[in-house]
Amino acid sequence: MLRSTLLAAARSGVVRAAVEAGPFEPLVQRFVAGTTVDAAIAAARTITTDRLVTVDHLGEDTTDRAQADALVAAYRSLLRRLGDEGLADRVEVSVKLSAFGQRLPRDGEKIALDSARQVCEAAAAVGTTVTVDMEDHTTTDATLTTVRDLRLDFPWVGAVLQSQLRRTEGDCRDLAGPGSRVRLCKGAYDEPESVAYRSAAEVDLSYVRCLKILMSGRGLPMVATHDPRLVAIARHLAQRYGRSVRDYELQMLYGVRPNAQTDLAARGLQVRVYLPYGTEWFGYFMRRLAERPANLAFFARSLMSR
Ligand code: FDA
Repeated sequence: MLRSTLLAAARSGVVRAAVEAGPFEPLVQRFVAGTTVDAAIAAARTITTDRLVTVDHLGEDTTDRAQADALVAAYRSLLRRLGDEGLADRVEVSVKLSAFGQRLPRDGEKIALDSARQVCEAAAAVGTTVTVDMEDHTTTDATLTTVRDLRLDFPWVGAVLQSQLRRTEGDCRDLAGPGSRVRLCKGAYDEPESVAYRSAAEVDLSYVRCLKILMSGRGLPMVATHDPRLVAIARHLAQRYGRSVRDYELQMLYGVRPNAQTDLAARGLQVRVYLPYGTEWFGYFMRRLAERPANLAFFARSLMSR
């Protein structure tokens, strides 16, 4: 109920204006590296002493073509910087197709594909990779089609699948082929019962079934969860299917369980941190609040002390 309310608020202009004007900087800073490329590069440099990184230039639900083009330009300059700073072998980028105009009424999917293609070209030029985030279930088919199209030229493009969706075991089977990079997460969007598991236990069981498919397949599973039980199961399955620690990644969000991240890295595991930056932090921030009631309590205390 609380999660649904927060996720609905994430799409409200009124809540957005109130939150953006509020004194929430310390909490936002926990989850977002900063608003500038310099801030993202500095954070990436620190993290890459023991972990890998995927950088997300924040943005979603773009409403005009100019915004989509500006985002492509921002990714291109980010990628150039990663190359110049010698970070491209440890840092890739993540993109959201809605930020590239996927939902624009005219030619949205084509505009998003062309934009993502330009980002892939810039990534290839510096020798790194791109992973395409997954948004709500209304976009799953379009997003997977775009990933397939991109993979014709850039076979290393990563896909994201969400265990909360009932369809995802089938998608894992489709995407577990040689070289296929698949990031498996639980899913951050409020989805209807008709397409999604609604209880945490069902989402977790689905996650394990999906993990088995990916770990026994021939791609690179990217295990995106902070859930210690699922991390332990992933490590166990990797061993069972003869994968070395180089043959899969554990992935977590910037600011979430940082001690677990460094601890796993110290044990020799490949840990990648999802590092968002930029001014468009509202939707991302609200999803992080929705994931954990304790974040909300902190948020409420900040609100009352205004
Ligand atoms: P769960 O929510 O059960 O949390 C397990 C534990 O982790 C909690 O008990 C708590 O300790 C800690 N934790 C989790 N979230 C926290 C938070 N916000 N603040 C503080 N502690 C927290 N989703 C999506 O729909 N599309 C996508 O493309 C992506 N991409 C993505 C990339 C990466 C690298 C990660 C790690 C996650 C995503 N997600 C995502 C988000 C994902 O779907 C999910 O909402 C969150 O990871 C939370 O789920 P957990 O698996 O961590 O489990």
